[in-house]
Amino acid sequence: MRIMLVGFGVVSQSFAEILHSQSSELARDYGIRPRVVAAVDSAGAAIDPSGLDVQLALRSKRESKSLSGLGENVYTEGKPASEVIREVDCEVVVEATPSELTRGEPGLTHVRTAMKEGRHVICVNKGPLALAMPALMELATHNEIMFKFSGTVGGGTPVLDLAKKCLEGCSIRSIKGILNGTCNYILTKMAAESVEMKEALAEAQKLGYAEADPANDIEGFDSACKLVITSNYVMGTSLSIRDVDIRGITEVTMDSVASAKSQGNALKLVGLVGDGAKVAPEEVPLTHPLNVSGTFNAVTFDTDPAGEITLVGKGAGGRETASSVLRDLIEIRKDFRR
Ligand SMILES: NC(=O)c1ccc[n+]([C@@H]2O[C@H](COP(=O)([O-])OP(=O)(O)OC[C@H]3O[C@@H](n4cnc5c(N)ncnc54)[C@H](OP(=O)(O)O)[C@@H]3O)[C@@H](O)[C@H]2O)c1
Repeated sequence: MRIMLVGFGVVSQSFAEILHSQSSELARDYGIRPRVVAAVDSAGAAIDPSGLDVQLALRSKRESKSLSGLGENVYTEGKPASEVIREVDCEVVVEATPSELTRGEPGLTHVRTAMKEGRHVICVNKGPLALAMPALMELATHNEIMFKFSGTVGGGTPVLDLAKKCLEGCSIRSIKGILNGTCNYILTKMAAESVEMKEALAEAQKLGYAEADPANDIEGFDSACKLVITSNYVMGTSLSIRDVDIRGITEVTMDSVASAKSQGNALKLVGLVGDGAKVAPEEVPLTHPLNVSGTFNAVTFDTDPAGEITLVGKGAGGRETASSVLRDLIEIRKDFRR
């Protein structure tokens, strides 16, 4: 199976490592013999139709932050990803460039180009889905390719697949979730240690949980993306991020956190789809399964007739998210067989 990695950062590198370290299990258990035929980052592209030396690519990226260590026969500086997607034959394109939430670029162009070229797409980038998910689903159907995006919600926790596959026959009335690990870490720390938000955020950045620019997290946009993707996939809505009423945690004070605590509640950034779609700080009873601490995510599906079902797990991380990409790849392989 020929695979192209568009974006070669934390997630793609972890995925490449897993493909390499689990190659015998993948061949034995699923008949997958992966060949990474191209890897593209913001500076250029490494291409080898017979398969890149993945170990060398990882070493080159680690040592020089570049893929140029693969040599001039393989690496072309400045070659854009869309060109590589059009020119290099492969079965699967993995889109893992940064999530941009205004225009969805460059991911949206990469995904559309790959679909038009008839390639299956695995996307971990939330931008294209938050802005144009219904249109992309249609494009995938029109081009008869599989479009998978398990890693966009919950990192390695199978939020989307659990609801879609394991709750068949149930109707889902609402989805309520703690969808952003950075915000949850900050609010947990404020409640447990009585520290101000600024200090909790600095700690989250030091530990690598929050980006240098944490705006998408603390202003609620990352949670809104995940809410849109989950709702569209599981409840069949056609939302975009523009349909979500979004309020992040920037105005949360120590007083509001302490007041929630004194009432037996925890203040959380909650995403909710039911009657409308919104993201806002909300009090959650300390005894409710949504009251997860630290960087954990949790999603409650209110279903008929099974009642409330809550899934809890780590919401991010390179290896965890790469495990979702692998699940998607296995699904694509199974579909080949069918
Ligand atoms: N990390 C997680 O835990 C996690 C979890 C769930 C979803 N995601 C999503 O997955 C995606 C990737 O995350 P990540 O953590 O791997 O990010 P990352 O480490 O920042 O990697 C992004 C990669 O994209 C490359 N890139 C940027 N612009 C590009 C362009 N125009 N063409 C080709 N490549 C380009 C970067 O190139 P350079 O290497 O040259 O900078 C880098 O290799 C993001 O959308 C993120 O929101 C991440």
